[in-house]
Parts: sequence; C-alpha cells; structure tokens
Amino acid sequence: MDGNGRWAAKRMLPRLAGHRQGVESLRRCIRACIDQGVSVLTVFAFSSENWSRPADEVSGLMDLLSLVIKREVTHLCKNQVRFHFVGDRANLSAQILEGLASAEQQTQDAVADHPKLILNVCFNYGGRWDIAQAMAKLVAQNRPINEAELASCMALSHVPDPDLIIRTGGEHRLSNFLLWQAAYSELLFTEKLWPEFDEAELALAIQSYGQRQRRFGLTPEQLSK
Ligand code: IPE
Ligand code: MG
Repeated sequence: MDGNGRWAAKRMLPRLAGHRQGVESLRRCIRACIDQGVSVLTVFAFSSENWSRPADEVSGLMDLLSLVIKREVTHLCKNQVRFHFVGDRANLSAQILEGLASAEQQTQDAVADHPKLILNVCFNYGGRWDIAQAMAKLVAQNRPINEAELASCMALSHVPDPDLIIRTGGEHRLSNFLLWQAAYSELLFTEKLWPEFDEAELALAIQSYGQRQRRFGLTPEQLSK
C-alpha cells in the first residue's frame, strides 16, 4: 500500500494524514474485494525496514494500527471478513498484540469457516523474516528441510500463494514482500498512490490479470492440451 506520504505531500498535509487516508482506501478495497469476488486479500502495512522512519511517523503508525483494529473489528465481523495478523510479534507493544489477538479471535468467532474474505495484514513483516522464522521452526522441531515443510511453517500457510500482487505508488519492486509466496504470482505495478486506489482500479487489475497466460514453467502447447 505505497504512496500515502506522497498523497499527503501533494496536499501540503503531514504524512500521517496520508496514512489515515490509506486506511480509508483499505476499507474501500475490502468492500471492493468482496463485491468483485476476491477471496483473499493480503496487504503490506508496515515492513521490518519501516522502523527506521522518523520516530513520530513510526509511533503515529503504531497508534493508527491500535485505533483501527479496535474501531473496525465489528465492521469486519458484520461483513464476514476473517482477519489475520501476519508478522513478527517481537518489538510490538503489549497493547497492539492484545488488540491484534482480540480482532483475530472476534472475526474467527463471527465467520467460523465461511468467511467472505480472508484479510491478512502484514505488519512488522518482511519476506526474509518469514523464510528465516519458518526455517528456524523446522530446525527446532528437527523436521526435514524441503519446500513443502518450509511452506507449512510460513506465516501465510493458511492461504494459497497469491495469484496477483499489486504495488501502488509507481515503484517497480517487491521491497521484501511475499518473497517465497510470489514465485509464480502475476505482478502489477500502478502509478496510482494507495489512497487513490479504488474499486475501478481493482477491477482494472483483475481484468489485466484475466488477460495473462500463467504457464508455471510449461510451454503454451502443453497448456492448450
Ligand atoms: C505507505 O506509503 C507505506 C507505509 C509504510 C505505511 P509511504 O509512507 O511509503 O508513502 P510514500 O512512498 O512516502 O508516498
Ligand atoms: Mg513508500
């Protein structure tokens, strides 16, 4: 969800105003995913590297997360959205961890096994962290090291690998997002800043995805058989 800071700067607003607008954009995107038949949405909200931002921005983002999870949980339950926190729990405050756990529990109780949307929020997340923590788990449990075992220990083992990864804000890189899971994902880069990403943009992205041929290493001839 890149581009909040630039969205704010364009309007002479503080960066945090951009992050607040980013939350509004996420609410809209959740609704659009449900309307457009997307069953899993995984968003990158705060990376392992974002701790190096100015202290007031980091604390502003932490406060925003606390506030938003508390404020939105009823809304998520009502809309049959199952929320998962994905990331490193180390370095997060007890207050945030409690809020996340409570939101996870409440949405689980509300939707049981029939969510309309699974929402994974990656916070204090990095793709390298995820691979390393999965590997550490295997070693600690003395399990064999292979792709299937590793995949079963990854932070997103409860969902399939993403079909489509969208990066907003005009940069053409993954920035440590879903490194393992992105192996065969279609990538889409848009100039739109995250606060500007709306239902029409989602529809365009899905349309572009629908026009691609996913070969998973096979030849086009093999696929047409
Ligand atoms: C949001 O966008 C990403 C977060 C870390 C919350 P940015 O804050 O990176 O916005 P730009 O790139 O400065 O516009
Ligand atoms: Mg950015």
